[in-house]
Amino acid sequence: MDRDAILRAQLRSTLEATPWKTIGGRVLPRYDGKVRDCFIDRERGERIIVVTDRLSAFDAVVGTIPSKGQVLNQLAQFWFERTASIAPNHMLRVPDPNVMIARECVPLPVELVMRAYLTGVTSTSIWKAYEKGERKFCGHALPEGMRKNQRLPAPILTPSTKAAKGDHDVSVSRSELLAMGRIDPAVFDRAAGIAATLFAEGQRHAAAQGLILADTKYEMGLAPDGTITVIDEIHTPDSSRYWYAEDYDARLARGEEPRSLDKEFVRRWLADEAKWTGDGPPPVMPDDIRLEAARRYIASYELVTGNTFIPDPAEPVARIAAALGAA
Ligand SMILES: Nc1ncnc2c1ncn2[C@@H]1O[C@H](COP(=O)(O)OP(=O)(O)OP(=O)(O)O)[C@@H](O)[C@H]1O
Ligand SMILES: [Mg+2]
Repeated sequence: MDRDAILRAQLRSTLEATPWKTIGGRVLPRYDGKVRDCFIDRERGERIIVVTDRLSAFDAVVGTIPSKGQVLNQLAQFWFERTASIAPNHMLRVPDPNVMIARECVPLPVELVMRAYLTGVTSTSIWKAYEKGERKFCGHALPEGMRKNQRLPAPILTPSTKAAKGDHDVSVSRSELLAMGRIDPAVFDRAAGIAATLFAEGQRHAAAQGLILADTKYEMGLAPDGTITVIDEIHTPDSSRYWYAEDYDARLARGEEPRSLDKEFVRRWLADEAKWTGDGPPPVMPDDIRLEAARRYIASYELVTGNTFIPDPAEPVARIAAALGAA
């Protein structure tokens, strides 16, 4: 079966939910995020992260995309392996294409967002703020006369406070964040240094692959021994903006949007075609949009890693249950 045929067949059997009561015969507390379902094994200090095929946009789950969970998990694995010498991360094992077993950490109450370009679509984005005339964003001075999608003079960190489930996150400056008193300044500054180093490596590798890593978001936590550890996902198309480098300049000069590899495609369909930007129940995504999104996620995996993506054709709930001993 060729890959497109596998993706088509997967339209009816995406990984949407993880219906197990026990893992390895034990009942484990679970936490279901928008994309990842986590089982917390406190005894072993491990978190079993099942990356589902759910797609979140405008802070809501809008449906599933064939092979998306596998793409995200295997991309995170690629980057965690690649950056392990730069920054400790939570990855321990990958027992299934959709599963990562991770060191359980205490998450820092902030997302570390690194940006190298003046872009964004949501009302809280750096571009929307700039468009409204703001020349200071999260404590960083922005030059006059910049255009949308232009490169910033240097990458900046724009911390974002983690809102409770359902709420939107808020971007803050370092001093605003520290004034909230939720994070130790020394820990924050070390995490900021790690974010800058990882982002530089991400940009460097992306450029070598013909891509621009325009921005990304890191989550970090404290391991039991206090080590600041990168958790969750890293440099995936869900947490990052990737653009094709080859025609970036030409398109910028013509005032066109960069060609992107991230979930911008689905966001645009939702906003422009379905007229939905997060209020009320999300629209049902047609199969051709889900397939095109799958092709783009796969392209991001292949371009970033230089490897061929091989979708696992097995029905995912049964396959993962077998890998984890889940029932
Ligand atoms: N090693 C780890 N230790 C502790 N928590 C982790 C670790 N890795 C990931 N997490 C947490 O697991 C969850 C992953 O789920 P997911 O990314 O789908 O959530 P989300 O929808 O982005 O966020 P939310 O927590 O708001 O639902 C996140 O809450 C993330 O912070
Ligand atoms: Mg997340």
